[in-house]
Amino acid sequence: MRIAVVGTGHVGLTTCISLAVFGHDVVGTDVEEEKIALLSKGVSPFFEPGIEDLLKQEMESGRLRFSADPSVAIPGAEVVFICVGTPPKMTGEASLIAVEAAARTVARYAEGRTVVVEKSTVPAGTAQRVRRTLVQERPEMADGFEVVSNPEFLREGHAVEDSLNPDRILVGAESEWAREVIRKVYEPLTAKGTPLIETDIATAELAKHACNAFLALKISFANALARICELSDADVDAVVDVMGADARIGRAFLNAGLGWGGSCFPKDLQAFQRLSERLGYPFPLLEEVTRINTDAIDSVVSKIEDALWNLEGKKIALLGLAFKPGTDDVRAAPALALARRLIELGADVIGYDPEAMGPAKAEVPDLETAPDAYEALLDAHCLVLCTEWDEFKHLNLERVKSQMAYPVVVDGRNMFEGTDMEAQGFTYYPTGRRALK
Ligand code: UGA
Repeated sequence: MRIAVVGTGHVGLTTCISLAVFGHDVVGTDVEEEKIALLSKGVSPFFEPGIEDLLKQEMESGRLRFSADPSVAIPGAEVVFICVGTPPKMTGEASLIAVEAAARTVARYAEGRTVVVEKSTVPAGTAQRVRRTLVQERPEMADGFEVVSNPEFLREGHAVEDSLNPDRILVGAESEWAREVIRKVYEPLTAKGTPLIETDIATAELAKHACNAFLALKISFANALARICELSDADVDAVVDVMGADARIGRAFLNAGLGWGGSCFPKDLQAFQRLSERLGYPFPLLEEVTRINTDAIDSVVSKIEDALWNLEGKKIALLGLAFKPGTDDVRAAPALALARRLIELGADVIGYDPEAMGPAKAEVPDLETAPDAYEALLDAHCLVLCTEWDEFKHLNLERVKSQMAYPVVVDGRNMFEGTDMEAQGFTYYPTGRRALK
């Protein structure tokens, strides 16, 4: 099938690549010409494991091309995926300006019957607005456009594997014709057993918000438990293992730590909250989920203050700056929220991350950076493990201790073993477990 993808960010580029892998003829387009220039050379504008090899492979196969010119990308496409950003407005609602602009562009250049797929995360009701925009722009094509909702469930850092082997495909559509077109798009996945869930449009839009809100709720639940475990000498990791052994609960997304960040959970939770208020059923549980997430940072600050007393003039090393391992994305990264707080409190903060140093420095200019973990730890009064990159598992703890001014470790992701910390004589503050001091 001939498919166009509007927007080549994380979701858009992964969509382009996976559709090409499925055998379709794909053209990606974006208003950011520099992005298209990079992509046309086979270079990914962001770090994502495995993406560049697959990008090159699909471009060489001739199935995947890019063009900044929508008059090249869209005409002739049977299906157009809208994968543009929906960042939060001041009010917390999702800004749909880019979605509207994309819809206008699609309307202008579409030829013949076209299925317009909304893949960006949008509030329920957006598909109707997209449809109205398409028809306003091209009234003569009113019967030729069909809008469907096909939310994406990929995780950054696992984008390629998630889009090539998803748990499920969700499609909200109103007509059998559109459903049939989307079945054809995903036939290579359904043929190998991936479930395709077909719903109406509003259900698909809402289900995406429900999934992200529930995942964030699980993490915040574990973080609230961690605080209670710290006050009662219980071990949060053991508690969530017990919970996770119950198939009705499941162990995933119950890791207590510095909290959730990224480009999705914080924005989607706010947008869901605003949507529920607008619909007349406020959902204060979502506010609480966010409050507990902020509290995870406060808890780490309290531990550092407990260990170091005053923070003015103390050097604190943050290991891991990305919002999670496997990405260079620092959007709403808990590590950067912590860095800002510590800098405000007068500490000298130095950070190291295997991938996210440039973006982190751009976000928090007062954050110093070091070329490796050991450099960051030189004369530090405290190490805070913020993001659980694998390489931190293999740190030589003896060397770590010898580099530091004080042997204090605050483990924001429970990456270290208490027994190893004890053996090396560290003052050790894990998450949701008794501190060694
Ligand atoms: C999330 C969802 O997992 C995807 O299914 C969804 O498609 C995506 O948002 C989206 O809406 O586009 P992502 O933001 O890439 O994906 O990141 P996650 O892997 O979900 O992690 C989110 C945050 O939760 C990270 O900061 C991570 O460190 C934190 N986390 C995760 C925990 O603190 N504890 C856990 O147990 C799991």
